[in-house]
Amino acid sequence: EQRQYIQQIRLMPDAPKSYHVVTYGCQMNAHDSEILAGMLRDMGMEEAADRESADFVLFNTCCVRDNAERRALGNVTWLKEVRKKNPRLMIGVCGCMIQQPGMAEKILKQYRFVDLAFGTANLYRLPELMLKALESDRAVVEVEEQNTIAEGLPVQRLRHDAAYITIMYGCDNYCTYCIVPYVRGRERSREMSAIVAEAEALRDSGVKEIMLLGQNVNSYGKGLQTPVTFAQLLKALDDVGIPRIRFMTSHPKDLSDELIDVMAHSKHILPQFHLPVQHGNDEILRRMNRHYNRAQYLDRVRKLREAIPAIGLTTDIIVGFPGETDEEFEDTIKLCDEVRYDAMFTFIYSKRVGTPAASMPDAATREDKQRRFDKLLEAANRVSAEKHAEYIGKTVRVLVDGETGKDEYNLSSRTNGGRLVHLAGDKSLIGQFIDVKITSGNTWALYGKVGE
Ligand code: 5AD
Ligand code: SF4
Repeated sequence: EQRQYIQQIRLMPDAPKSYHVVTYGCQMNAHDSEILAGMLRDMGMEEAADRESADFVLFNTCCVRDNAERRALGNVTWLKEVRKKNPRLMIGVCGCMIQQPGMAEKILKQYRFVDLAFGTANLYRLPELMLKALESDRAVVEVEEQNTIAEGLPVQRLRHDAAYITIMYGCDNYCTYCIVPYVRGRERSREMSAIVAEAEALRDSGVKEIMLLGQNVNSYGKGLQTPVTFAQLLKALDDVGIPRIRFMTSHPKDLSDELIDVMAHSKHILPQFHLPVQHGNDEILRRMNRHYNRAQYLDRVRKLREAIPAIGLTTDIIVGFPGETDEEFEDTIKLCDEVRYDAMFTFIYSKRVGTPAASMPDAATREDKQRRFDKLLEAANRVSAEKHAEYIGKTVRVLVDGETGKDEYNLSSRTNGGRLVHLAGDKSLIGQFIDVKITSGNTWALYGKVGE
């Protein structure tokens, strides 16, 4: 049905001729934007270099934290000025922010120059909504309940050598701080055969690395007619023969021994694990509704490291959850010192309307939280610098993935464990595996020389 709308738009003389998609948030959104771009391309539009030169600008928004929402809205407002110069400009806003109850209406009221607003559930209906918007003078708004999985959508991939594959949608965990289950809906898994077919096609087109995406990949396959486990899916994908397989995100409560075993014996699954702990204190973990305690989490980490010694371990941490005391926060620091993560993504708690944590008492001030956050960052940087120092003089194998835009170290690459390595070399190395000797490092990257 959507293909028909695509054809209709192609034939419309005054349809936009170029698009620009602006993406906020996680990899899931980045991949959604690749699909939105794929549909726009099929409607006959070309990608514009920037928002000023596009006929249609689409904001794919995020609402996981307040600053993501503010940034998106700030940029939408700024486009109003661009429209004064280009009256043909169409503006669309979509994604998680719009999926929140009442948000689409609120946006259209406050931002009257927006032509099109739709939620994550309506993403695949972009052609239909676009046609409606082109045929009427009024703004088009569509926000439905999440329940479908649309297969066979066109994809305009950002990279040629690495690709995202969504394996499941939604989340059923209801961590008390998190808005995701409300805007991404209930957990739904794609059929294993569809995922494997997508991976085979990517392999045949020369893709070297795939990243499997889901809010909680460990519960992949539960609701399928013939239930399968994430470990079984990984095993099947390992046999496809793509050199590098990565995935995110894993919930610690569902990390099975079966999965660790499959990883340890696989040929292509990279020794990387993103295992968000969120907090180091049992009482806070309970109030977050995480379904594990510190000891159970540390047991998973121990198991992973025993089975896969080279594993690169990363995490997400929230500072300043409602009611967090200085003592409770110290448990997070202690946990991080104990685990010694390869990278940490740290966030100050942001109140999300409609979540249980939003109504929990919170005595700490913004300054208290900032102070704790700075302390955590300092601890993370210290570990990172120590780990990087251990690499100096060693030779590591990397996949070169792009340009840095800098003169001295012009290329960026990643080790199998997921560490960022900058190096100097010809652009033709992009997409290739090479050996690099590490010469120096700072808190966030390593620097190296090719072929030594
Ligand atoms: N405030 C701060 N951080 C949050 N995250 C999710 N919800 C919130 C919130 N309300 C963080 C979690 C999650 C990551 C993607 O974002 O750490 O793992
Ligand atoms: Fe949010 Fe928790 Fe689901 Fe992750 S597991 S998306 S933090 S509710």
